[in-house]
Amino acid sequence: MLEELEKLQIKALAELDKITGSRELEQWRIRYLGKKSRLNQILHSLSILPLVERRSTGARANTIKKTLEATLKEKEEILGEALLLSSLEGRRLDVTLPGQPISSGRFHPITQTLEEICQVFQNMGFQVVEGPDVEWDYYNFEALNIPQDHPARDMFATLWIDSDRDKKSRLLRTHTSPMQIRVMEQRRPPIRVVVPGRCYRYEATDATHESMFYQVEGLAVDKNITLADLKGTLFDFCRCLFGEERKVRFRCDYFPFVEPGVEVAITCLTCNGAGCRLCGYSGWIEILGAGMVHPDVLKRVDIDPEIYSGFAFGLGVERIPMLRYGIDDIRLFYGNDLRFLRQF
Ligand code: PHE
Repeated sequence: MLEELEKLQIKALAELDKITGSRELEQWRIRYLGKKSRLNQILHSLSILPLVERRSTGARANTIKKTLEATLKEKEEILGEALLLSSLEGRRLDVTLPGQPISSGRFHPITQTLEEICQVFQNMGFQVVEGPDVEWDYYNFEALNIPQDHPARDMFATLWIDSDRDKKSRLLRTHTSPMQIRVMEQRRPPIRVVVPGRCYRYEATDATHESMFYQVEGLAVDKNITLADLKGTLFDFCRCLFGEERKVRFRCDYFPFVEPGVEVAITCLTCNGAGCRLCGYSGWIEILGAGMVHPDVLKRVDIDPEIYSGFAFGLGVERIPMLRYGIDDIRLFYGNDLRFLRQF
């Protein structure tokens, strides 16, 4: 039996030496050190041997077991290291390679313009407030002196949400003016607010029309507010935005919620008033509708027109970057083409 043990050890160590993978190693462990291994059998059958032989065989079998275990452990360590090295080698990283450029986001040209407009008015003491895109007929029309069947409704091709057409129907606001009413319902004069926001109209789109666009509404209500205050405010605004040399023109216009109503134009940014394709050879570009808040509108929100007066204006936003950068199609703003948007 001693002889068998010696042979077993030689064979086991020789096999172990050749092993290169962890699965083979586990099979080897089962074969030579497992419960059903020959070595284990011998260790369990010692009791049937005569005493002298039992001692020598037992001692030898135990040392062989220890040797095999120790060699296995060594082999495991060597193999583990080799595996780690080879996997590291496979995933080698060249830290000197140039990195991938991270593209940074930027503000949409319309967002930039809105912020600039609001800043100019904030510097004059106006506060920025916002209102809902989905509006009641009441705020969008009725309270602004545009009752049912008023011809002025034709000025605004409306996208309706509810199918009926009364004060209680909902629509997508066609202008930011409904916020005049909402603000005056909630506050008492002195009021000075600007309202940036989206507006919607049921119109075919072309180079100068979108069904969704932005306006900035302005409203000032106080004692002794006159048309001169409106003129001064808008003159200043136009010069801040378009330059000191800009000329500003006020002409009569009609909106049911103001009296008098005006239309404001500035000298064309491209031709400086001489006349070109952009301004339709008139030299002027309209950017605003405005006027003195109609006494009936004030009465409706319980502000006494005998004591208070106010002015309001509504400014088209897309026009401004179009003029400044010579953009000839409004649809570019909402086409989500990054090649266009990245330029601003
Ligand atoms: N809401 C008007 C429009 O969209 C503009 C306007 C605002 C006119 C305020 C007068 C006063 O055309």
